[in-house]
Formats: sequence, structure tokens, C-alpha cells
Amino acid sequence: MPTGVPRILAFLHPLIALAAIALLYHVATLGLRSRQRRGEEARPLHMRRAPYALAMVWLSALTGVTATWLWRDDLELAGGWHFWIGLGVVAVLSTGALLSRRVQTDDTARKIHPALGLLALLFAALQIFFGMPLLPF
Ligand code: HEM
Ligand code: HEM
Repeated sequence: MPTGVPRILAFLHPLIALAAIALLYHVATLGLRSRQRRGEEARPLHMRRAPYALAMVWLSALTGVTATWLWRDDLELAGGWHFWIGLGVVAVLSTGALLSRRVQTDDTARKIHPALGLLALLFAALQIFFGMPLLPF
């Protein structure tokens, strides 16, 4: 278990990841609301803010790997479910983001884009439970 400054730095990743999950939830709500009647004004907000949620999720994965590598001698890199689910969140959300370009023209993309977004949100929420036992307390 790290001590001193490395221990404090090891908390950066969980804090960034929690902010990412909150932003992802917010963006998902805007996306779903944009499909409801009188919800059109949520659509430009979803389109503007979703890339930030995607970037934050990537940052979460990168800081998670970096922190494990640099400051967590007590953990094995890529050593458990938290790593693989984290990779899953990034892959599913990034695929959904790429599909968003076809939402206007392709009916399948229009159906799959929100489904992938919600799946990524579900995985991200799971990360809270798989990440908690790893915290450097
Ligand atoms: C979008 C959500 C998240 C992603 C993509 C993510 C990703 C990762 C990855 C890839 C690792 C490296 C694991 C390894 O190499 O075995 C990691 C480590 C870790 N994660 Fe997460 N994680 C997320 C959320 C969370 C949350 C919510 C918590 C806390 C409740 C957390 C706590 C940790 C801890 C304590 C470590 C070890 C490194 C450190 O001490 O900072 N993670 N994470
Ligand atoms: C977090 C989960 C997400 C959910 C639940 C979600 C849901 C939705 C929904 C329901 C729509 C409206 C589709 C329609 O009825 O035409 C939409 C559109 C859109 N989404 Fe998402 N989305 C999510 C994440 C993302 C991400 C990560 C990105 C990009 C980084 C993104 C980019 C877009 C764009 C650009 C559109 C508009 C496409 C267009 O009109 O040309 N979304 N989303």
C-alpha cells in the first residue's frame, strides 16, 4: 500500500472517474430527453456535452492504468475485473460515439447509439463497486 504523496495521488483517478460517471449520466439524460415530445432543446446540449463525457471516460481509464503502474505496487496491472470492465466502458462508449454520426441517416444507428450509451453507463456504474476495494485506505 502506498504512503505519503503517492497515496494522495492514487485518489486522483477515483475522483476523475466519479466526475466522468456523473457527466455521462447527465449526457445520457439529455440524449433520451431529446427524443421526447417538446425535448428538442436537449439535443444540441447533448451533442455539445457528450464529447466531454467521452473524453472524461478516456481520461479515467488512462489515469487508472497510470496510477496502478506508478503508485500501486500492491496491485497487479490489468489484474482484475475493474480493468476489463473499464476497457469495456471505453470501447462501448467510443463505438456509440462513432455511430452518432449516422444517427440522422441510418435507422439502425439511431436505435443502437442510445443502447450503447446506456450499456456504457451501466458498466461505468459497476466500476464504482469494483473500484471501491482497490482504494488505498
Ligand atoms: C469510468 C469509470 C472507470 C474506469 C474506466 C476505470 C478504469 C480503471 C483502470 C483501467 C484501472 C487500472 C486497473 C488495472 O490495471 O488493473 C483502474 C484502477 C483503479 N480504479 Fe478505476 N475506473 C473507473 C472508475 C473507478 C471508480 C468509480 C473508483 C472508485 C470507487 C475506481 C477506483 C480505482 C482504484 C483505487 C484503482 C487503482 C489505482 C489507484 O489507486 O488510483 N475506479 N481503474
Ligand atoms: C451516454 C449515453 C448516451 C445516450 C443515452 C445517448 C442518446 C442519444 C439519443 C436518444 C439521441 C437522439 C437520436 C435520435 O432520436 O435521433 C442522440 C443523438 C446524438 N448523440 Fe448521443 N447518447 C449518448 C452518448 C453520446 C456520446 C458519447 C456521443 C458523442 C461523443 C453522442 C453524440 C450524439 C450526437 C452527435 C447525436 C445527434 C446526432 C444527429 O442528430 O446527427 N452521444 N443520443
